[in-house]
Amino acid sequence: MAAYEYETHEYDVVVVGAGGAGLRATLGMAEQGLRTACITKVFPTRSHTVAAQGGIAASLGNMGPDHWQWHMYDTVKGSDWLGDTDAMEYLAREAPKAVYELEHYGVPFSRTEKGRIYQRPFGGHTTEFGEGPPVQRTCAAADRTGHAILHTLYGQSLKQKAEFFIEYFAIDLIMSEDGVCQGVVAWKLDDGTIHVFAAKMTVLATGGYGRAYFSATSAHTCTGDGGGMVARAGLPLQDMEFVQFHPTGIYGAGCLITEGARGEGGYLTNSEGERFMERYAPTYKDLASRDVVSRCMTIEIREGRGVGPNKDHIHLNLSHLPPEVLAERLPGISESAKIFAGVDVTREPIPVLPTVHYNMGGIPTNYWGEVLDPTPDHPDRVAPGLMAVGEAGCASVHGANRLGSNSLIDLVVFGRAAAIRAKDVVDPKTAVPAPNKASIDSALGRFDGLRHAKGSVPTADLRLEMQKTMQADAAVFRTSKSLSEGCANMARVAAKMDDIKVTDRSLIWNSDLMETLELTNLMPNALATVVSAEARKESRGAHAHEDYPDRNDETWRKHTLSWVEGPSVRLAYRPVKLEPLTSPDEGGIDPKKIAPKARVY
Ligand code: FUM
Repeated sequence: MAAYEYETHEYDVVVVGAGGAGLRATLGMAEQGLRTACITKVFPTRSHTVAAQGGIAASLGNMGPDHWQWHMYDTVKGSDWLGDTDAMEYLAREAPKAVYELEHYGVPFSRTEKGRIYQRPFGGHTTEFGEGPPVQRTCAAADRTGHAILHTLYGQSLKQKAEFFIEYFAIDLIMSEDGVCQGVVAWKLDDGTIHVFAAKMTVLATGGYGRAYFSATSAHTCTGDGGGMVARAGLPLQDMEFVQFHPTGIYGAGCLITEGARGEGGYLTNSEGERFMERYAPTYKDLASRDVVSRCMTIEIREGRGVGPNKDHIHLNLSHLPPEVLAERLPGISESAKIFAGVDVTREPIPVLPTVHYNMGGIPTNYWGEVLDPTPDHPDRVAPGLMAVGEAGCASVHGANRLGSNSLIDLVVFGRAAAIRAKDVVDPKTAVPAPNKASIDSALGRFDGLRHAKGSVPTADLRLEMQKTMQADAAVFRTSKSLSEGCANMARVAAKMDDIKVTDRSLIWNSDLMETLELTNLMPNALATVVSAEARKESRGAHAHEDYPDRNDETWRKHTLSWVEGPSVRLAYRPVKLEPLTSPDEGGIDPKKIAPKARVY
């Protein structure tokens, strides 16, 4: 291996990733005086949170009655009873506080006539524990809410003197001999230098792995880098079988058309012009939970009622909405529809198709963001020195299916929680431990091996093969056959990593090498997804198994853990946390309200 010199940096906390969760964690850590570095492979305001459109859920009650317990109930039901009850209570209770903090930091939310934060309806958000009408709970900045939040958090983090290392690619975690995370090794993309970030606490905020699939609303940068690093460190991933398809990706292009479009009154139709969601979800119709809507759209297409020459997509209608609503509340998607589908939304429907959007699974954590390294006897054992927040993590607040607008609130609530916890577990007065040299050498050895890889399979070809396999074999609907074929196909695809070909050996702006490193992160995420899905013999949330169409709480109300070891995956399970944080006597939810039942909208 070539000898690599590196510069060592020491911090109390290193945050990897500068999306909504990474920036909220960075800001919170810096605010309380921890020396904090945020390292990010893209400029912070280009992180994928910038693409979040519809809004952020919190029971502010600005548009009508709402309550955090109703939000919690909807989240429990949305998760199809797989979410951890403590984390879901924490999310719903802390959400209003977290949104008001954003407002005070300067997020330019849309406003009601009275000057309050504007809130719109979103799928699966209801009143009266699912007995009442839809609620307007999703706080919005037009349809550019993620953009507004990201820019504000970046500005505030700079104000708090957090230090940013921009366009640095994290290669691997540094782990001590006894399993403590001690930071990361990173490659500076623009000058090729190597950097060791030694830290008392490392926070992974690296986002999801949507790009394991062929068609995704996720940016090309969503390559599951945190999950890849964690898997290589011998730690498990959790609930990876649950992959969310957003009902309204633009047909062909895959770009997101926000659920806010249906929240503002848009509706879906099939080739007969029928508002088919009325048939499947008579109460909440187009505002049923998004796994439900995606399945209904897929059934319509399968049964020959898709639109277009190939009857392979669905129409989203907005032309009946007043032009001023489209201009004020949905300007971004009106533009996207024009650019990517050639459609004028004031006159024509948008062609849409369920498209991979979000990973409910990820790095297991408790509701403080601390990464878990479970054993059968200690399912909540904490992996010291390591946290994960946002889509990279699995708290598990979304369980088997996430409600729309519960992602942005997850980012800020748990980014903030990680900072609150760090105050207790990170002592700014102690020295930063010297990082384990053997672990650094191992990271650099892997990096060098890929840099000089002389195989026969180009990275782009192998990535495409993986994406097409995942799209075909682990889709909206799954069967025993598609999943067992998926496991075999993915094992074959992953084994080809040993024959990878990298042509550019340089260290400066080497996108060939960077994409190869990203592929080494996508691959364990994809493998864990298909193997975990094959094992789960029931249907729950986003995991719709045609051979096991019912939810089976007795056997399967448990989290899947997956350790990825080369091309093979080892599975185990850990219990779902059923206890709320607060008893009913102290103002908590009545457990009877959130007991499992049939999930209908
Ligand atoms: O439809 C949307 O605007 C997406 C929101 C979300 O995924 O939370």
